[in-house]
Amino acid sequence: MESNPIAAPETAREMRVVAQRVAAPLTRTAIFLVVTLKPGREHCATIRSFCADFAGLFRAVEFRDLEAGLSCVLGVGSDAWDQIFGPPRPAELHVFREIRAGARHAVSTLGDLLFHIRAKRMDMCFEMAAQIMERIGDAVSPVDEVHGFRYFDDRDLLGFVDGTENPRGEAVIDAVLIGEEDARFACGSYVITQKYLHDLDGWNALSTEAQEHIIGRKKLSDIELDDSVKPTSAHNALTQIFEDGKQIQILRDNMPFGRVGQGEFGTYFIGYSRSPRTIEQMIENMFVGRPPGNYDRILDFSRAVTGSLFFVPSATFLETLAEDAPVVAAASAAGPAAAAAESSRFAPREHDGPRVPDGSLGIGSLKGENSHE
Ligand code: HEM
Repeated sequence: MESNPIAAPETAREMRVVAQRVAAPLTRTAIFLVVTLKPGREHCATIRSFCADFAGLFRAVEFRDLEAGLSCVLGVGSDAWDQIFGPPRPAELHVFREIRAGARHAVSTLGDLLFHIRAKRMDMCFEMAAQIMERIGDAVSPVDEVHGFRYFDDRDLLGFVDGTENPRGEAVIDAVLIGEEDARFACGSYVITQKYLHDLDGWNALSTEAQEHIIGRKKLSDIELDDSVKPTSAHNALTQIFEDGKQIQILRDNMPFGRVGQGEFGTYFIGYSRSPRTIEQMIENMFVGRPPGNYDRILDFSRAVTGSLFFVPSATFLETLAEDAPVVAAASAAGPAAAAAESSRFAPREHDGPRVPDGSLGIGSLKGENSHE
C-alpha cells in the first residue's frame, strides 16, 4: 500500500471530511477512558446512536467554558468495529500485538472504545467523561481510567521533557491523517496506548548522565545528545523511523499520572499515526531492540501494563451515522475521485453555520490549528 503524504490530506480536504481533533493543543490535564462493549446487539445500537450524537454532546460540555480548550477523541477497537459498524473496515485496524523479549513484555489488553479527553481544566475533562458514561454506561464495562496531569515544564515523572520532537504545523497532518491510501477512511487516524508504571527508586538511583544516555537528551536543558555520545539504544534513537530516507513521525501526547500513597508513578503513552505500523515498529525497536538485544533501557525501569490499538474515524464519519445509512460504503469503493464526488454528502451538516466559519465541527478540524508549535 503506497501512501502519498503530501497529496493525501489534500484529497481529504476536497472530500470535505473533517478529522476528529487528534492534534488538539497540549493541555494541562487529560482523562484516558477505555471501555469494552457488553455482549448484546442492543448495546451496539446504543453505541452507534451515541456516536452519531457525539458531536452534540461534546458541544454542550465544551460551551460551558470555551476557553478551557476541551477536546475529546473517540477511538474504536478492532473487534468493536465489526460489531458496531460492520464492513468495510479501516485497512490496518487490528488487535494490538503483544511482544515478548527477555524480561520485557508489551502486553495486549482489552479495549473496545477509547476516549481521549483533554482540557486546561480537569473539571471539564471530568464532566465530559461523566456525560459519556451517563449515555453509554449500561452498554459498556470500564476497563481502565487514567487521570493525567502535566508535570512542570511538560516533563514525565522520569524528569525529562516529553513531547519535544512532535511534528508541528502541517507536518502533523501528514503524520496522523489517513489520505488516499485508504480513501474510504480519509481523515481517520490510528492510535496506540500503553500505560507504563515506573520503578522511580531504581531510576533515581542512576546518575543524571546515565539517565541522559537512556533518553538521548539532556535532562535540564532538553537538548538532544550529540550522535558522538548518544548510544544506539537511546530512546530517541530507537523511536526514529525512516522510510526511503524520510523520517516517519507520529504525534504523542503522553501524560504523567500516579497515586503517591500507593507508590504508583506512571506515564500514559498515547501515539497517533496515519499507519499503526510506525508505532508498532517503534515498540518493537524498544522491546526487542535494534538490532535485537539493543533494547530501550527505559524498560529496565518501566513496565507496560496495558496496550491497545484503536481506529479514530473522522468526525464526519461519526456525524453521518445520524443519517441512518451505511456511511463508509457511501464514500465509494472506487477510490478518491469517486469519493470526492460524494463531497456534498460528506459535508457535515453543521459545517456552514455561523458559529464555526472554517468548516469545523468543533470536535474536528485540524485546519487553522498550530497546536504543537
Ligand atoms: C515509559 C514510557 C515513555 C517515556 C517516559 C517516554 C519519554 C520520552 C522522552 C523524554 C522523549 C524525548 C523528548 C521528545 O522528543 O519528546 C521521547 C521521545 C520520543 N518517544 Fe518516548 N517515551 C515513552 C514511550 C514511548 C513509546 C512507547 C513510543 C512509541 C511507541 C515513544 C516514541 C517516542 C518518539 C517517536 C520520540 C521522539 C524521537 C525523536 O524523533 O527524537 N515513546 N520519549
